[in-house]
Amino acid sequence: MTNNQLVPIDVKEKEFKKIMNIYEMAMVQVKKDLEDVKVGLRDYYDYDVINNINCRIKTPESIINKMTKKNYNLNYKNLIENINDIAGIRVVCPFKNDIPKVIEIIEENPNLEIIEKKDYLNSPKKSGYSGYHIIAKTFVNVGDKDTYAGVKTEIQIRTMAMDFWSSAEHKIKYKAKNNLSKVDSNKMVRYAKLINKIDNRIMYLHDKYKDNI
Ligand code: GTP
Ligand code: MG
Repeated sequence: MTNNQLVPIDVKEKEFKKIMNIYEMAMVQVKKDLEDVKVGLRDYYDYDVINNINCRIKTPESIINKMTKKNYNLNYKNLIENINDIAGIRVVCPFKNDIPKVIEIIEENPNLEIIEKKDYLNSPKKSGYSGYHIIAKTFVNVGDKDTYAGVKTEIQIRTMAMDFWSSAEHKIKYKAKNNLSKVDSNKMVRYAKLINKIDNRIMYLHDKYKDNI
């Protein structure tokens, strides 16, 4: 390999890191906003409506896999336009009816521009996956002065029970190298339905006693 070949690779890496840094700033900004929402909701409802907030930046490997799977040429334009979950924030709530409370506040947040909403609560995915996804732009200061870029982030909102199912399913699928047998994927769909029933029952009991101090 000649030096001439090494230069563009180095430049590309710098460019890639710069873009990832912008996504990271966006993620931190949205997480901060949601942490304020967590405090506000706790004060208002007197319990933790948001149990926890996690976030992650998609790894380069996972970005490349997704772009390849979706048949996008590997360039920055395609990355920015089509990969919406580079900056991912997950909001986990104890009860099912906490989710709309969080959605409402996100929708009212002037720092966020909602791009897309996916309601897998009312329409779970074929796998059984349930949750509510919002793709929202946040505005990140990228220049010296008033240069802002709208950066897409994916906010996933789900209950603790849904979170248990999806992280377990993710691990099981990973171990099975994405090749779960039909019988086993049907089991996972059944378990997701069971979890949904339990979520409803626990929510009902919580509502029943919520005004008792
Ligand atoms: P992805 O290519 O999976 O990102 O799908 P998408 O771009 O069509 O978006 P979608 O809203 O369907 O899924 C986005 C994210 O939701 C995924 O990256 C996962 O974090 C989560 N998710 C979606 N479906 C499943 C599923 O069947 N199982 C698990 N464990 N997580 C899922
Ligand atoms: Mg994803």
